[in-house]
Amino acid sequence: MAGTRNLYIETFGCQMNERDSEIMAQLMGEDSYLETARAEDADCIVVNTCSIRGKAAQKAYSLLGGYRALKERRPDLVIAVAGCVAQQDGESLLKRMPHLDLVIGPQNIYRLAELVAAARDKAARTAATELRPDFAIPPFLPKMDGGGPPHKRFVTIMQGCNNFCTYCVVPHTRGREISRRPEDILAEVSHLAAHGVREITLLGQNVNSYGRDRQATGHDPLDFPALLRAVAAVEGISRIRFTTSHPKDLSPELVRCFAEIAKLCPHFHLPVQSGSDRILARMNRHYTRADYLAKVAALRRARPDIAITTDIIVGFPGESEADFAETMETINFVRYDSAFSFKYSDRPLAVAADFPAKVPEEVKSERLARLQARQDEISQEISAALVGQTLEVMVEGRSKNAGRQWSGRSADNRIVNFDCDRQLAPGQLLPVRVAEACRHSLRGRLA
Ligand code: 5AD
Ligand code: SF4
Repeated sequence: MAGTRNLYIETFGCQMNERDSEIMAQLMGEDSYLETARAEDADCIVVNTCSIRGKAAQKAYSLLGGYRALKERRPDLVIAVAGCVAQQDGESLLKRMPHLDLVIGPQNIYRLAELVAAARDKAARTAATELRPDFAIPPFLPKMDGGGPPHKRFVTIMQGCNNFCTYCVVPHTRGREISRRPEDILAEVSHLAAHGVREITLLGQNVNSYGRDRQATGHDPLDFPALLRAVAAVEGISRIRFTTSHPKDLSPELVRCFAEIAKLCPHFHLPVQSGSDRILARMNRHYTRADYLAKVAALRRARPDIAITTDIIVGFPGESEADFAETMETINFVRYDSAFSFKYSDRPLAVAADFPAKVPEEVKSERLARLQARQDEISQEISAALVGQTLEVMVEGRSKNAGRQWSGRSADNRIVNFDCDRQLAPGQLLPVRVAEACRHSLRGRLA
């Protein structure tokens, strides 16, 4: 096509970043950039970075470093860094890597096309990383013909985090909590539903505190449970998920939603981080193990089939073998459906970086291995217990092995593969009887 340019986006990190990349691709598309699968073909490269752990940030730096040769061959190539590393490092990235044109923080992605055009035309190098407390997430309607699954989408409902867990860089990279206007969220969900989307995942760093900032500034009283009820009322949406949650903000009203809103999927990702009260206090988490377990019990009373998943950090500064044993006890007690677990890593600006009693790397590795081995067993036992049950599965598409095999997701987000000779459509709901529990998926037959 005449007048088009090529855009290559590489995305690291969380679902917030994935959604931000979709938004950037759409905005650039409106400015005649078409997405390409190869960085070598691009006129503009955007690396949307993550800084949550040292390793994630390292990956971004090494990818960016590798683009120097491309820029030397093609000086008119525009290279932009977005996401949390961009926010964290700002201007200093431009100094460190002279082949970069643009550093753009999460609040500024809506200005990407304008900033890229400026970089192209005037060869100006810019760091757009201001974080404004009065920032309002603009209304935005997703385009439906640009990539992505046709039946499920992410909808960002808030940005930022107010919690300052001592290990975490996010409050420093994403700023304070800013909730999106409920009317903009509902307009986006209705628009998606009208275009055939059946499943919505509401996104934010701490969705359970949605609306609190708006209430404090005299706007509407809509909180997260009320938002869930409003989203559930949108015709055409059959499944609602959300991520991520802080246990301290999990209210009885949110628990009630799991009993009362049938469209709300029976899955709760509830990061525990540690099973030791001493470590939880040092992490500034504002709950004890007992508080956490009481919330898990309440969720299970409201929705007995609910899957609970979590995040765990091992080797936080000062974590003793006894503290770690309490984390192991917690996973044995809760019996998580699955868990993401990480070795603690120092992050710039996060205060735990200055905490004494750092745990040696080999101790962290050994604890992580023990935890993951036990969690794998628990996950396998829970999967095996599903054999013989009939699950409602939302069709995703043909499975990778093609043939007559299809793939879908259960309400608690497990991958379920099954055979079917008919043509199926993504988003369709079907009952599947589980015949076999594989390592990362289930196999079944249409019931
Ligand atoms: N080191 C290790 N893991 C971390 N996480 C957040 N910060 C760190 C860090 N400094 C983990 C937490 C969080 C998940 C997204 O990443 O478990 O819930
Ligand atoms: Fe990574 Fe957190 Fe930033 Fe997401 S918000 S990209 S997980 S640092």
